[in-house]
Amino acid sequence: MSVKPKVAVLVGSLRKDSLSRKLALDISERAAGRLICTLVEIADLPHYNQDLEADVPAPWQRLRTQLAAAEALLFVTPEYNRSIPGALKNAIDVGSRPAEKNVFNGKPAAVISQTPHKLGGFGANHALRQCCVFLNMPLLQQPEAYLSGTAEMFDSHGKLHSHDTAKFLDKFVQAFAAWVARVRAPAPGAA
Ligand code: FNR
Repeated sequence: MSVKPKVAVLVGSLRKDSLSRKLALDISERAAGRLICTLVEIADLPHYNQDLEADVPAPWQRLRTQLAAAEALLFVTPEYNRSIPGALKNAIDVGSRPAEKNVFNGKPAAVISQTPHKLGGFGANHALRQCCVFLNMPLLQQPEAYLSGTAEMFDSHGKLHSHDTAKFLDKFVQAFAAWVARVRAPAPGAA
């Protein structure tokens, strides 16, 4: 039996009833046969300040260690003002430094944006993709995941009850697992 890749899941919302978190938990369960997904918390990270590198705050070190141990990344985020929430950008900034120790470098990743409104968080999705280019993360291209109307997708226990979304997420997980395997496969002829 092949070893399942470890995926760190970063959720862009800090709130207790977050739709993004519900989605992230659903996807983690859905992917369990192929990937080991673990939500990595970002709420306690001090704002990135290069001066603090002299005496790295414990939450920064904890994040860097957790992300360094992951073989792939999954971002699940809402859109704030047509971009990504500050807390998620801060986590990305913390993980990306010092530059020679960028914990994201070379790791396969995928982005899911969601909104209870319309437009699927398209602005956040693509702002995040722009960060991933600089972080040198090979990103899953298709299927793109822009989820709209997400407040209607969960029951009172926070479980996904939208059949269409479940079908889409199964397809997404399948594509992401294949992408992770493909990026991590040794190059032909490599020892
Ligand atoms: C929002 N929201 C929002 N929605 C959207 O579709 N596009 C946007 O640009 C914004 N901007 C925005 C800014 C700020 C500061 C907040 C607090 C909210 C609404 C947002 O999609 C909604 O609150 C989601 O429920 C947030 O996701 P979680 O917390 O449920 O995961």
